[in-house]
Amino acid sequence: MIETIVTILLGLFLLCLVCFLALVLISSIFHLKHMVPFVPTPAGVIETMIAEADLKPGMLALDLGAGDGRVIRRAMLRVPGVRAIGYEGAFGVWLFAKFLNAGSKAKPDMRMQDFFKQDLSNADVVFTYLSIDIMQKLLPKLQKELKPGTKVISNTFSFKKKEPIKKVFVKMPFWGGTNVLVYQF
Ligand SMILES: C[S@@+](CC[C@H](N)C(=O)[O-])C[C@H]1O[C@@H](n2cnc3c(N)ncnc32)[C@H](O)[C@@H]1O
Repeated sequence: MIETIVTILLGLFLLCLVCFLALVLISSIFHLKHMVPFVPTPAGVIETMIAEADLKPGMLALDLGAGDGRVIRRAMLRVPGVRAIGYEGAFGVWLFAKFLNAGSKAKPDMRMQDFFKQDLSNADVVFTYLSIDIMQKLLPKLQKELKPGTKVISNTFSFKKKEPIKKVFVKMPFWGGTNVLVYQF
């Protein structure tokens, strides 16, 4: 009897392990495709990004490459009434975001989609934490689609062909700090 229970538990454990490894593998393939790994924005930087966004109830915030959704979840908690959509291409990370949503009062609409293929024209604020190359590739799309006045708040990475209206240096313990760049379109 005990032997059967142990065998079943071991089987379940192995099944979970295989599923987890498959998830990691699939999400790594997506990361390779996007060439941007999931690196979460630290809490202090998130607070600055949200403060600079000057969000008001009813506004729509997008996170392009939303990771586990932490930036927009925090934005929704800080400014009740804000709506938020997060686009995330890596399956494992997107699934993790849905899991975190389930345990939070704020539930941004997490979509497993490539943000380059989405219409961004409804956004009031756009958050990014991408890479220097993807920022340059993204600029023409933002210039074409964003409403006049829309703010883009970028963690660390800047556009080469557009000047930020503001740059805030956020000090971080142990590794100096980083810039939050504020753009207005
Ligand atoms: C550095 S992480 C930032 C995560 C989150 N925004 C944050 O600040 O914590 C960048 C994320 O963008 C995602 N990503 C990159 N290119 C993408 C694309 N074209 N469409 C959707 N997600 C993308 C990656 O999978 C990765 O999880």
